Amino acid sequence: MTDRNTQVLHKDDNYTHNIHRNNERSLDRRGFMKTLAGAAGVFAVASLPWGTLAAKELMGLADKEYPHQKVVDIKDIAIGDSVEFHFPSEHDSAVLIRLDKNKFVAYQNACTHLRCPVYWVKEEKEMVCPCHHGKFDVHTGAPTAGPPRRPLPEIIVEVQNGAVYAVRVKRYEA
Ligand code: FES
Repeated sequence: MTDRNTQVLHKDDNYTHNIHRNNERSLDRRGFMKTLAGAAGVFAVASLPWGTLAAKELMGLADKEYPHQKVVDIKDIAIGDSVEFHFPSEHDSAVLIRLDKNKFVAYQNACTHLRCPVYWVKEEKEMVCPCHHGKFDVHTGAPTAGPPRRPLPEIIVEVQNGAVYAVRVKRYEA
């Protein structure tokens, strides 16, 4: 008696016996080779001195740069104060905080829990979400209290000609 599990139905039966179209196997191989070449390319680029940044750009992980947007003149924001603005679009609310003479930080301020607006409480030196008592570290944007689990997206700022400009939104790697 023949064991059905080991029975060979066709003489060339194997795991690809259901491939019928001409060239299907070679297309499969070609697709695989393309993927391999792409991965090798990203690896090669990543090994160059500037490669990590370029590879991140290729993979869509680099910080995203937008047209620079003036937020405030330095003379108009005292140390310890904050100013609200929108970046990169008018729908993305954000807050800029002046921590020191030359130190500014900015974050998109939709709470990472349920998107209530997070604001700066100068006296407590904390960013606070009033909805469920969420709190965020002003130096990193990381959640420190309440339900939020993800940091606020950081906006990279630059000082040019006596004013603070928003230039990039930092991306978080998974
Ligand atoms: S929405 Fe901010 S803590 Fe819930």
